[in-house]
Amino acid sequence: IKIYADGAVLSDMLDAYNAGFVSGFTTNPSLMKKAGITDYIGFAKDVLERIPDLPISFEVFADDFETMEKEARKIHSLGDNVYVKIPIQNTKGESSIPLIKKLSADGISLNVTAILTVPQVEQTVHAFAPGTRNIVSVFAGRIADTGRDPLPYIRRCVSLCDLRPEADLLWASSRELINVFQAEELGVDIITCTPAIISKLKTNIGKPLEEVSLDTVTTFNKDIKALGF
Ligand code: E4P
Repeated sequence: IKIYADGAVLSDMLDAYNAGFVSGFTTNPSLMKKAGITDYIGFAKDVLERIPDLPISFEVFADDFETMEKEARKIHSLGDNVYVKIPIQNTKGESSIPLIKKLSADGISLNVTAILTVPQVEQTVHAFAPGTRNIVSVFAGRIADTGRDPLPYIRRCVSLCDLRPEADLLWASSRELINVFQAEELGVDIITCTPAIISKLKTNIGKPLEEVSLDTVTTFNKDIKALGF
């Protein structure tokens, strides 16, 4: 499985890149807001100057398809390693599939995002033009947030993406380290991870549980001391 870094904090992105730990990057408007980015295109250019050789996804930000198309073409022109993120629908619930077909026919690499259902994956994989490279981002963590087990859904998404060489399945909205192993086991192509999960990937795998228990009481003890007890 390929590990991508999910986030829009330039220093975190560069740390992951320089450590050679990830194979690509994803960003989204909420992550940009959280990172305090005010100049979207300026940020994208800055990132691409420093990370010119790994896939990076930047999302369109309009809600109407005409403007989305213009933004998609602009974002695509920023670099060969760019995947243009298109949400599967706009805020009115109108499908982005016609736009996805149009952009893909022009050879633009897309990352179709905010996907939560199997029919959305089915429509998406059939919208890609032959010979293009694309990512299908299924938000497994947001499925889990509704109390549903994402694994049976993801299993069906793997089968659908396996039908199309143009579509790489990405496990989005990872929530915990175990998701990396679950995704790998199911045959998912990519998982995008938060900085917290990336740091656990480096330090926590296989850590003796006795040690984790000791770490836990040590943290409790430090915190209670900080409270002055
Ligand atoms: C993926 O590309 C998204 O940026 C991300 O994984 C969304 O995660 P969230 O559900 O935690 O917002």
